[in-house]
Amino acid sequence: MATLGVNIDHVATIRQARRTVEPDPVWAAALAELGGADAITVHLREDRRHIQDRDLEVLRRTVQVKLNLECAIAPEMVAIACRVKPDQVTLVPERREEVTTEGGLDVVGSREPTAEAVRRLRDAGIAVSLFIDPDARQIDAAVDLAAKAVELHTGCYANETDDAGRHARLVELSRAGAMARQAGLALAAGHGLTYRNVVPVARLDGMGELNIGHSIVSRAVLVGFTQAVREMKALIG
Ligand code: PXP
Repeated sequence: MATLGVNIDHVATIRQARRTVEPDPVWAAALAELGGADAITVHLREDRRHIQDRDLEVLRRTVQVKLNLECAIAPEMVAIACRVKPDQVTLVPERREEVTTEGGLDVVGSREPTAEAVRRLRDAGIAVSLFIDPDARQIDAAVDLAAKAVELHTGCYANETDDAGRHARLVELSRAGAMARQAGLALAAGHGLTYRNVVPVARLDGMGELNIGHSIVSRAVLVGFTQAVREMKALIG
């Protein structure tokens, strides 16, 4: 059975909308653990649009399950990872103007800087996963760089609007997953997974970990909304 890494970035997104102290992603991580999360995932972006350095540091001290840090291959981000020592780092592409991570890391096209990032992280004793598109060339490159795992980008699957499209994308994910497993890589997947589309991905052979953020945070906001209003109403009353 695949494990669940809960990405809490968007709890921090809500906080940063007011640059206040609530909601605290550290609290969300604890609640996610109570709900059964197998891992807590955060993306410390270079522009610090949601998760802050303080969050990562407090999470390192408080998270009791696996802590998975997503970050760019930039040397200054890798240096932070080596200092804080999450259990795993997932290297992702990053562009400042993007709304969210678009596409996987081009390990083939950025081989040298990616290799250097992987080397530094491995030397610091951190497991390294590469977030890549379900593409054979990218998997070969991940194997060459001695990554421990790959996380397959499921964004294209999630964006399909009909069954035939979803099926075609699932076949790509399945082939890439089989190739990664045969090469000895641990297999993860994520991006755009929701309560409606997750099951076929969770059922892929050898699927080890799913990282899911936006859909879980979105649902949490709504399932807690009625109670939050009731509590405010009671106070005012
Ligand atoms: N995996 C990776 C590598 C990501 O960059 C993200 C988004 O930060 C996710 C998983 C989670 O995606 P979503 O928020 O769409 O569930």
